[in-house]
Amino acid sequence: MAPKQPIAYEDRPDDGRGGKVVPMRLQKFLARAGVASRRASENLMTSGRVSVNGEVVTELGAKVDPLVDVVEVDGRAVVIEDAPVTIMLHKPAGVITTMKAQSDRPIVASLVPRDRYPGLYPIGRLDADTTGLLLFSTDGQLGNALLHPSRHVPKTYLARLKAPLGKEAADALREGVELDDGPAQPAEVEVADKSGKLVRITVREGRYHQVKRMFEAVGNHVVSLHRETFGPLSLGKLKPGRWRELTAGEVASLQNAATGKATRT
Ligand code: URA
Repeated sequence: MAPKQPIAYEDRPDDGRGGKVVPMRLQKFLARAGVASRRASENLMTSGRVSVNGEVVTELGAKVDPLVDVVEVDGRAVVIEDAPVTIMLHKPAGVITTMKAQSDRPIVASLVPRDRYPGLYPIGRLDADTTGLLLFSTDGQLGNALLHPSRHVPKTYLARLKAPLGKEAADALREGVELDDGPAQPAEVEVADKSGKLVRITVREGRYHQVKRMFEAVGNHVVSLHRETFGPLSLGKLKPGRWRELTAGEVASLQNAATGKATRT
């Protein structure tokens, strides 16, 4: 179980999340390698299915060094991929955008694979009652760049309103309404059903309650809000409560959006 050759801390590679690759508990290693959750990994260990350097390890306190130890589950080698990871979640209603519980209310952290990717962090936030596309990344630089006000990354929402949106109100939103923390930038606005109460709106800012406050500013009220797109990405057929990892092409398109070269895929 001891490392075959000790490696000094300063010689260890960065883990891509602001730290270094260091020895860790075996169940944490298995979770980070994507084998199973920590709890399920403990079960794998206690049932004798996990070996380290050829020896079965059932002891839950056991540590491994990802740089030198060979970990196998059912005889198959397991490794941690430490490349940055970005995922999209279809956030359901009633879930708070935070990685740290402050009350009994459900939080997005329990819907994403944070055991596997400990540095995963939401890129921006959606209100608890807002549904739709929420991105998470272990790449802090990408997240910061996408959220930077100067980038103007477009986000499209489908808003259900209390009252039909009149032409005047729609035009005011297109020109840029006044909010209490400064004017909102012009939005793209399109009525999406016959009732006039379902409206698709694209904004390039991400201020607190941005869309809800914009509709309030024209005398209306958002009954429900759903985010369909973030920059070049759409939610597609992802079901509420489910997440998926972005493809390399999607990450590249996000990076373009973050550097001002936005294209819709
Ligand atoms: N605008 C809002 O008002 N709420 C959200 O959750 C997102 C954008």
